[in-house]
Amino acid sequence: MLHVGVVGCGYWGPNLVRNLAENRLCHKLSLCDLDGAKIERQLLRYPAAKPWTDYEEMIAQSDLDAVMIATPLSTHFDLARKALKRGKHVFVEKPFCASTEQGLELIALAESKQRCLAVGHTFVFSPPVIKIKEILDRGELGKLFYISSTRVNLGLHQKDVSVIWDLAPHDLSMFLHWLGEAPVEVLANGKDFVQRGIPDVAFMFLRFASGAIAHAQFSWLSPSKLRRTTIVGSAKMLVYDDTEHLEQVKIFDKGVNFRDPDTFGEYQLSYRTGDIVSPKLESFEPLQAEVNDFLSAILQKRRPRCDGEDGLRVVRILEAAEKSLMNSGQVEVIGDVKVRV
Ligand SMILES: NC(=O)c1ccc[n+]([C@@H]2O[C@H](COP(=O)([O-])OP(=O)(O)OC[C@H]3O[C@@H](n4cnc5c(N)ncnc54)[C@H](O)[C@@H]3O)[C@@H](O)[C@H]2O)c1
Repeated sequence: MLHVGVVGCGYWGPNLVRNLAENRLCHKLSLCDLDGAKIERQLLRYPAAKPWTDYEEMIAQSDLDAVMIATPLSTHFDLARKALKRGKHVFVEKPFCASTEQGLELIALAESKQRCLAVGHTFVFSPPVIKIKEILDRGELGKLFYISSTRVNLGLHQKDVSVIWDLAPHDLSMFLHWLGEAPVEVLANGKDFVQRGIPDVAFMFLRFASGAIAHAQFSWLSPSKLRRTTIVGSAKMLVYDDTEHLEQVKIFDKGVNFRDPDTFGEYQLSYRTGDIVSPKLESFEPLQAEVNDFLSAILQKRRPRCDGEDGLRVVRILEAAEKSLMNSGQVEVIGDVKVRV
């Protein structure tokens, strides 16, 4: 049974708090925010929680086992490092941190202290994403050709990070999970239409060593909320629409057959359209599974399902994509990085 502290009780932190309060592996909660009014609101629901406005004081508690960080990106590294140095297990919301150097330091610190370091890639815990991984792993789509994703809405404009750092971690963590490989190249284009210096629209292109390619579109400046991913393979195609209530995943038995011609006259393409199947999905809150995985990993002394290395892989793509965006979409090569100490 664990004593867990949550730092950041703004928009997202209260979701972590709710899931901790409902988890039997957590017996005591500490809540921290610079803004006392935000903690007060949480205390109305969870009166037994211990309130803190000073993070250093919260993590100085000797019986505090773990910290979950739901503050803006610019604070992740400092807060995570302080907690790890005090020997606490740490969960950091996406994006893990602001640079490769920061990520390497946190991973090395967690290893030297033998503490869990988890990263909030919530979608990896969601039933449709898990189902798609099963479908891909059993080769149902055939050879994977490409992925195309759209994550757009009106808002929420961030003050300190571009739309890439805000929205792309979701799609990138899914792509890496599904493909089991990181891209070797990325390029991105975009523009800062509303706030100067903070791109609010971005188009990203990724190339993988397996030959697969991926494209993703991110925007805080779009009339309607779209969360749609298309995956095309040599045998079948799949559409995942996260805004759907029923049938979030659909598998299309569609494709093109190309017969190598002996002569030009025999040149032939045939289009195949078969059944559309919507697989049954389990029903649970992804965040509940994510919080439970973090707490279980601590108690079982194992790596969490999304750890610092997973977080770092995404950060490396974000860094390269942002650099490409600043250089009019030039191709950035993403090299290997040694993450083990
Ligand atoms: N996993 C997901 O699906 C998901 C969804 C939304 C946001 N997030 C992530 O959650 C994090 C927080 O996002 P948000 O939208 O809740 O931000 P927010 O601005 O609404 O809330 C952040 C809170 O942190 C507090 N804070 C900042 N620095 C602090 C410090 N040093 N000590 C104590 N409190 C501090 C602020 O007062 C604020 O209340 C971000 O990393 C974001 O990317 C994840």
